Amino acid sequence: MDRIKEAVEVAIDAALAAGKIQTERADQIGKVRYKGHASDPVTEIDLLCEQEIIRRIRESFPDHDILAEESAETYFGKGADSKWVIDPLDGTLNYSHGYPCYCVSIAVEYKGEIVVGVIYNPCLDELFVAEKGKGATMNSQPISVSQTEQLQSSLLVTGFAPQLEESLNKNLEYFGKFMHACQAVRRPGSAAMDLCYTAMGRFEGFWEMKLKPWDVAAGTLIMQEAGGKVTKFDGSPVSIYDQEILATNGLVHQQMVDVFLSNGNH
Ligand code: IPD
Ligand code: CA
Ligand code: CA
Repeated sequence: MDRIKEAVEVAIDAALAAGKIQTERADQIGKVRYKGHASDPVTEIDLLCEQEIIRRIRESFPDHDILAEESAETYFGKGADSKWVIDPLDGTLNYSHGYPCYCVSIAVEYKGEIVVGVIYNPCLDELFVAEKGKGATMNSQPISVSQTEQLQSSLLVTGFAPQLEESLNKNLEYFGKFMHACQAVRRPGSAAMDLCYTAMGRFEGFWEMKLKPWDVAAGTLIMQEAGGKVTKFDGSPVSIYDQEILATNGLVHQQMVDVFLSNGNH
C-alpha cells in the first residue's frame, strides 16, 4: 500500500482524538438508544467519535472505502483497494456504566489484508499500534504474547455477543469447558481490548462468537504482529468477516482447539 506511514499516523491521531472525546464526555454520554437488544447500546459519544475519525480519514484519503460500525452503509462499497475498518467505541456498555474498559479501534485493509491496526484505550492511556510485517507496540514499546505453554496455567478471556438467543448456550458450554481446563476465564466486555491484552501477554487466549469486522480488524493484526496465532475454533484460517475467532499466544493454541472439539468437560 502507498502512503502506509501516513495511514498509521492518521489512524493514531484519529484514535487519540476519539479517546479524548470519550474521556471528556464520560459523565455526559447523552441519549442512549439500543440496536434491538438492551445489551447493545449506542450513545451520542459513539456517533461523535465515529464522525471525528471519518472526518480525519477523508481529509487525507478521500478515495478509500470506510466500513464503520455506526454508519456501515454510508461510505462503504466503492470498491477501493484500501478500506478503513472502524469501531469508534468498543465496549459501549462498559462506557455507559462508567466501567473503565473500552477503546477506539481503527484498521486499514489493503486488497483484503489488514496492514494497519491501531487501538487506543483512554482509561489507561494505552496506545497499541501494528503495521504488517513491522511488529506491534504499546506506547511505542514492542509487545509480544506470553510464553506460557500450558493451558492449565493460562488466563483466558471471552465475550458474549449481544444476540444472546443465537449463541448464549454455546458460549456457556465453552465457558464451562475452559473453566475446567485453564486457570480462570475473564469476560471484560471489549473484544478489541481482549485482543490487545492477549497480544501483550496479560491473557494467553481469547475466543468469541458473532463478532463484527470492526471488533477484530485492528486487534487481529496486533495479535499477529505480537507473535500470536488467530484462527477459527477448529484451528483453520479465519478472516475478520467470520463468525468466530480464537486468538492465542500460539503455545496453547492446539490445547484450546482440543477443548472446542472435545465432548464433555475437558
Ligand atoms: C462489543 C464488545 C464486546 C463483545 C460484543 C461487541 P461494542 O462491541 O466488543 O466485548 O462481547 O460482542 O458487540 O458494541 O461495544 O462496540
Ligand atoms: Ca465493538
Ligand atoms: Ca462500538
